[in-house]
Amino acid sequence: MRIEGKVAFVTGAGSGNGREIALVLAREGADVAVADINPRGIEETAKMIDETGRKALAMEMDVTNSIQIDRAVKKITEGLGAIDILVNNAGVISHMPFLEMPEDAWDKVVDVNLKGVFLCSQAVARRMVERKKGGKIINISSIAFWLAYPTACHYAASKGGVVQLTKSMAVELAPYKINVNAVAPGTIDTPMIEKGLSTPQARAAEVARIPWGSIGKPKDVAYSVLFLASDEAEYITGTTLVVDGGWITG
Ligand SMILES: NC(=O)c1ccc[n+]([C@@H]2O[C@H](COP(=O)([O-])OP(=O)(O)OC[C@H]3O[C@@H](n4cnc5c(N)ncnc54)[C@H](O)[C@@H]3O)[C@@H](O)[C@H]2O)c1
Repeated sequence: MRIEGKVAFVTGAGSGNGREIALVLAREGADVAVADINPRGIEETAKMIDETGRKALAMEMDVTNSIQIDRAVKKITEGLGAIDILVNNAGVISHMPFLEMPEDAWDKVVDVNLKGVFLCSQAVARRMVERKKGGKIINISSIAFWLAYPTACHYAASKGGVVQLTKSMAVELAPYKINVNAVAPGTIDTPMIEKGLSTPQARAAEVARIPWGSIGKPKDVAYSVLFLASDEAEYITGTTLVVDGGWITG
């Protein structure tokens, strides 16, 4: 019960890491609003949160649409209470060589992964500032913030942008006692990577790059988020917590 009585808002919570983050925050005592462009996914996540005994609110919302975001934040505040914890988790990827990447593929990935973090954080942080009770913002980056990502330069650029956005927000929001941090996962078993790792050979090649010797699980990301959302992380802001089984170190 490390975040008992808090209200959390998790984007992209209809699947993978976002769903697990929402469930871990609920199990630790938070009421959780979940948003996604996939309505069926968030309904399922909300049902799972209900089973923990905490309140859930499911909202169809696109993180690139500021009108939908404002509507969602208002609805959460009225339905669950003021938001204490925002987790910017929604993300997309596509694969193609740099030389062949069309402008719309670039825009899509950068809009969801980077602009989405900016828009959701701004909408929530403005209310946190007004409320004068601080808050926690946790942004999901990727080890692609640091490593080159051939076939996904837009993704790497967006995740690098998330780290830099996190730092600038952290400094600007520190006077309001709003912690802003990022989590940078390595390869985590979610639908996002299913296609790329669909054969035993592809999985073995991926595992061979990871010093820990295994692919991560959504719980590994979720518990890192929980720590950063808890009071124990009060003095931590502007940092990026890498959760990758040692990949970028080794
Ligand atoms: N799985 C990995 O290996 C890995 C590694 C590093 C970082 N990440 C990051 O973790 C986060 C979650 O990804 P995942 O692996 O769980 O993938 P996922 O595809 O299972 O989940 C992503 C979710 O985001 C939602 N989404 C997409 N566009 C959206 C939008 N415009 N508005 C709202 N929701 C939207 C999707 O519908 C989906 O439910 C992403 O930011 C991703 O970049 C994943």
